[in-house]
Amino acid sequence: MHIAILGGTGKEGRGLAYRWTRAGHTVVIGSRSLERATAAAAELNDLVAGAPAGRASDAPVSGADNPAAAAAGEVVVLAVPYEAQPPTLEAVRASLGGKVLVVTTVPIDPAARRRVRLPAAGSASAEAQQQLGDAARVVAAFQNVAYEQLTGEEPVECDVLIAGDDAAAKATVAGLVRDAGLRPWDIGPIANAVVPEALTVALININVKNKVRGAGIRITGVPPAA
Ligand SMILES: NC(=O)c1ccc[n+]([C@@H]2O[C@H](COP(=O)([O-])OP(=O)(O)OC[C@H]3O[C@@H](n4cnc5c(N)ncnc54)[C@H](OP(=O)(O)O)[C@@H]3O)[C@@H](O)[C@H]2O)c1
Repeated sequence: MHIAILGGTGKEGRGLAYRWTRAGHTVVIGSRSLERATAAAAELNDLVAGAPAGRASDAPVSGADNPAAAAAGEVVVLAVPYEAQPPTLEAVRASLGGKVLVVTTVPIDPAARRRVRLPAAGSASAEAQQQLGDAARVVAAFQNVAYEQLTGEEPVECDVLIAGDDAAAKATVAGLVRDAGLRPWDIGPIANAVVPEALTVALININVKNKVRGAGIRITGVPPAA
């Protein structure tokens, strides 16, 4: 699958790009700057080439500006800070054409990172769907996965809660979650994206209080076959 990661020059986007490239997907890194996107793509190609099991994708990671990346991706991932979400989405709206848009955003207040702050729409993901309307099928995912976990070689000890209003879009994202080495859980409509977004703030508090960086979540009580 061709996957565009808007803001893929940053921490979470790079981690996802690393995992998906190793799983055989073709990733294009999006940025406001073509130069930064190209540099991040080159770094990722070096990282993947040096990985123990070698690269799985035949296509190298590439870089593009955000609108060109969004046009190239079959699935588009938004990996920018909350404040950057509205302008980034506006910049790519014309390129989305009803595609699946994975929103990783946590609406953190940079001045109070340990306190929940939710937008009027209920969550950043719901806000993205409201902003875009029919231009994209928004699926919230990956809010609870720390980037440090994604660039390592160990299995990621965190599940992924997926919220969205389009069942086919959620199934596509669930496949990408598995390809990244994590377990997906469908938690219902986009209105429920408030759950993983707010939960991340709890994980930040756990990280701080226990002096760790990658606290995550696990769903228990469900047999593997389910
Ligand atoms: N970090 C984590 O462990 C983690 C975990 C779960 C979820 N998330 C969520 O994932 C998203 C990305 O997090 P991150 O830590 O990767 O963020 P980041 O590294 O701070 O930023 C990611 C990219 O966003 C772009 N960006 C930054 N400020 C911008 C602005 N004002 N306007 C437009 N674009 C801007 C930059 O790309 P260019 O300058 O190249 O355009 C930057 O490289 C956030 O919403 C975060 O809540 C993060």
